[in-house]
Amino acid sequence: MEALTGVRVGQVGLGAWGANLVRNLDELADLAWICDAQEKRRDLFARRFPNARATGEFADVLADPTVEAVVIATPVPTHYQLARAALGAGKHVFVEKPPTMRADEMEELVQLAERHELVLMPGHLLLYHPGVGKLKELIDSGDLGEVLCIYGNRQNLGTIRKDENALWSLGVHDLSVILYLIGEEPSETWARGNAFLTPGVEDVVFCYLRFPSGKIAHLHLSWLDPHKMRKLTVVGRDKMAVFDDMELERKITVYEKAPEQPAQSYGEWRTRTGDIFSPKIPNDEPLRLEMQHFLKLVREGGGEIEARDGLQVVRALEQLTESLRD
Ligand SMILES: NC(=O)c1ccc[n+]([C@@H]2O[C@H](COP(=O)([O-])OP(=O)(O)OC[C@H]3O[C@@H](n4cnc5c(N)ncnc54)[C@H](O)[C@@H]3O)[C@@H](O)[C@H]2O)c1
Repeated sequence: MEALTGVRVGQVGLGAWGANLVRNLDELADLAWICDAQEKRRDLFARRFPNARATGEFADVLADPTVEAVVIATPVPTHYQLARAALGAGKHVFVEKPPTMRADEMEELVQLAERHELVLMPGHLLLYHPGVGKLKELIDSGDLGEVLCIYGNRQNLGTIRKDENALWSLGVHDLSVILYLIGEEPSETWARGNAFLTPGVEDVVFCYLRFPSGKIAHLHLSWLDPHKMRKLTVVGRDKMAVFDDMELERKITVYEKAPEQPAQSYGEWRTRTGDIFSPKIPNDEPLRLEMQHFLKLVREGGGEIEARDGLQVVRALEQLTESLRD
């Protein structure tokens, strides 16, 4: 599905992550505009992408009637205003995660997109990771048996952010995947954490979620940790699966391990341990797959599911934040 569209796109935000997005857009779409408030970033990217027009004003991008879609990769507090302006100007929108910092703002954007039949896609990168696709396949095929619990580890002595805490910066990834895998919104949310470095910005957060079906989930999110971990564990009644994004080859490992109750054991549980195997996972770049999906939606229509998923994730983040501040 390479360069399928010729969609005319403008990108705002040419920072560390924006650099990855703009590279993919240049290859997959018709990159018409690049926009950044900092002249140095603009000049750097103008040299790299001479066919795109460069500006410091997002309004210039929106005023161009030939631009069909915009990609927003600015800091999180700016997302809502920029996305609202873009939808208001009739542009399809891809907005980096998290798309807003409040559920009512996300609700407004979703309604705006639906009213104008525009795509509103949040940057839930992991949903386009072939490893997550495999996890979903294992769950939906019934291979793992009934899913009982899922827990995520996203830790690293990494970028220490000042605008968003570990919940909003890191947890958004795991929440988007957990809600996708379970297919439910949480009925109970609980979070605890602490801001050890920057006042008001929690750098260590633990979350617990319970779903209407009884499934439970837990997240450990932190940038104060000796380990770099990017791991999601799914415990099923029949098998267990681990998605480890730090592994180069064995991204997914399936363990044929489970408790069982033999008929003659009168209620006693014993454990069963079988094979451990790693299914082959394609090596495709998730960001490229994500951009291809966005451009396909712009070309062919749709996007309601993506926008609603974004709303569910922001809603869960908001509930966890309320619990964190209790
Ligand atoms: N999906 C992922 O895995 C992933 C990874 C990293 C970051 N992100 C997201 O990407 C976004 C950007 O992160 P980053 O690390 O690149 O940030 P960054 O601070 O490196 O870059 C942001 C850029 O936006 C520009 N900018 C800010 N406000 C602007 C405005 N109003 N108009 C024009 N330009 C403006 C800044 O000058 C800067 O160059 C964030 O939302 C972040 O959460 C996503």
